Amino acid sequence: MGISLPLILLIMAMSLPLPLSFGIKQNQLSYNYYKLSCPNLESTIKKELLTLFLTDATAPAAFLRLMFHDCQVQGCDASILLDSNYDTHSSEMVSAKNFGIRKREIISDIKAILEEECPGQVSCADIIVLAAKVSVSLSGGPHIQIPLGRKDSRTSSFKEADAKLPSPTISVDQFISIFKSKGMSIEESVSILGAHTLGVGHCLNIVGRLYDQRIGDNMDLRFEASLRLTCPTEIPLTNITFVPNDMTPIIFDNEYYRDIMNGRGLFGIDSDISRDPRTAPFVMRFAMDHRYFFEVFSSAFVKLSSTNVLTNMQGEVRRKCNQVN
Ligand code: HEM
Ligand SMILES: *[C@@H]1O[C@H](CO)[C@@H](O)[C@H](O)[C@H]1NC(C)=O
Repeated sequence: MGISLPLILLIMAMSLPLPLSFGIKQNQLSYNYYKLSCPNLESTIKKELLTLFLTDATAPAAFLRLMFHDCQVQGCDASILLDSNYDTHSSEMVSAKNFGIRKREIISDIKAILEEECPGQVSCADIIVLAAKVSVSLSGGPHIQIPLGRKDSRTSSFKEADAKLPSPTISVDQFISIFKSKGMSIEESVSILGAHTLGVGHCLNIVGRLYDQRIGDNMDLRFEASLRLTCPTEIPLTNITFVPNDMTPIIFDNEYYRDIMNGRGLFGIDSDISRDPRTAPFVMRFAMDHRYFFEVFSSAFVKLSSTNVLTNMQGEVRRKCNQVN
């Protein structure tokens, strides 16, 4: 998937820093990082999540978005899990851009289990990325090989979250540049937004587009009518109403691309990538070929989760995910 198996084997054999950063930032993640220190790490996480997913089919979406929102702010360093500490840092959750982020506490629960199994070894940052990876595969998506060894941050800042997390109204230019800064091609950027094959969006994030349609917006009339039924007022009366991101919101498939081509994109950016000449050809290809989508998504996922990470002495392995040591 993205990186060929022989390459992975070669890297594992040599146990060398991975050439994944493509000149963005040298990092020292590796595919066998916990081989000795926590050999059952992945199966432990998988077991915990499987139990959770059986009772809450919407949970995988939460972990996939959690990873994006962690990685987008100071790199993938579990900064999103820190509570405010009024002397030193503010919680990223204070930012309205983190509206709808769910299941942070589950990462802390998994961390507590891992502290029994392999005390002091596994970073919260790696748990977030592994939870996202497992969420994708257990929802029917690709099995992605990801390098590990991220360290946790000692700081967080809601101002940085505010500045770095994208709003649903960003332009295609801004969208391309966000993911280009992580070493992604336009094709990979289009594939990573395919994460919107899972989960939901709240009226809060939809009404802007729904009640102020831009010229050229291709929203399907029936879809629009159903959105207006669910989100009847321009300023939502509550923050609890939501709609699915695509027609199959608990299955990781390529339905998202068919939906956005047919005017059933939820957010402005979803709709825009189906019409911009730079991105539309990839939308069309992913809509037709789910294997190819999985392949490109896997490589984009590794880039998203490996860029600008803390390694070695740059961070710590937190004892509890919601506070620094
Ligand atoms: C330009 C980039 C992006 C924008 C503007 C964007 C925007 C949004 C918005 C507004 C929501 C709805 C939140 C809510 O109302 O509850 C959402 C949900 C979601 N996003 Fe994104 N997103 C982007 C990229 C990504 C990426 C890169 C991923 C993962 C790799 C991702 C995964 C998700 C998932 C899984 C959900 C559903 C969450 C849930 O059900 O709780 N998004 N996104
Ligand atoms: C909904 O959430 C947003 C963002 O966190 C907040 O600004 C707004 O006041 C909330 N609205 C209601 C009705 O609770």
